[in-house]
Amino acid sequence: MHSLTLLGGHDKEGYPEILDVTLNRGDILCIVGPTGAGKSRLLEDIGCLAQGDTPTGRRVLLDHQIPGEGQRFSRGNPIVAQLSQSMHFIMDISVREFILMHGESRCLEPEEPLVERILSCANELTGEAIHGDMPLTQLSGGQSRSLMIADTALLSPSPVVLIDELENAGVDRQRALELLVGEDKILLISTHDPVLALLGDRRLCIQRGAVRQIIQTTPGERRNLAFLSVINKRFLSLRERLREGALLDFDMPAYFAVESETDKEEKEATPRV
Ligand SMILES: Nc1ncnc2c1ncn2[C@@H]1O[C@H](COP(=O)(O)OP(=O)(O)O)[C@@H](O)[C@H]1O
Ligand SMILES: [Mg+2]
Repeated sequence: MHSLTLLGGHDKEGYPEILDVTLNRGDILCIVGPTGAGKSRLLEDIGCLAQGDTPTGRRVLLDHQIPGEGQRFSRGNPIVAQLSQSMHFIMDISVREFILMHGESRCLEPEEPLVERILSCANELTGEAIHGDMPLTQLSGGQSRSLMIADTALLSPSPVVLIDELENAGVDRQRALELLVGEDKILLISTHDPVLALLGDRRLCIQRGAVRQIIQTTPGERRNLAFLSVINKRFLSLRERLREGALLDFDMPAYFAVESETDKEEKEATPRV
């Protein structure tokens, strides 16, 4: 499978939705819009490869064709992997056993080096270290999500990954996206977060149940993304300091002051007296 096409249905009042967008492997598409606008619904439409048979009337094509019944209804849908908003593990096994079991259920035989790769990936994403022998049920929200993202990137064969509201919950989201896209997947993320929204190539804006516009991330937005990423990293490192018992009474405006590229260039070009 190389591409996924999303065709419009209708909004909540029944008015037609003008939408015909195709995504290729390696693409990131963000979905933005007010709460209740229909972001999760859009992801669900993709999750079930809708054919005009969901509340939105949308249709999804794979490689410009209607997916076969086998692709739509096969157990453990191989086309789409979904990382849901809330994740709770209820199995009484260790993280390592879980990764091995998960691999087997996908008919892979993950060997120890792959388990280690998934663990080290997950640890890149979360500030709270995960060890292979930890009980699965004791992972925090951020650790669970990091583990599932690493697992999906490295173990899941699904070419399409849906993430509903990946927010700042102890996961290095920028790294997570690099990881997932690096595996040549099509990534759709609903978000309220500017850092994530600008990371995508395009974003769909949803209101009252329908996509109203598709915005291509502009060069100006990309520049601002670089700025926001620095601010975001610094903000995240405050969490670390807090965890370690540090005081946060230092000069915050100075801590967050970020020179723009042009300021820096000007300074470099100006000879010091
Ligand atoms: N085009 C539509 N037609 C009818 N109902 C819709 C449509 N889009 C969304 N809905 C419904 O509106 C409700 C809110 O949508 P949801 O996707 O949960 O919003 P969000 O994730 O943006 O907060 C859900 O019950 C969903 O099924
Ligand atoms: Mg939602």
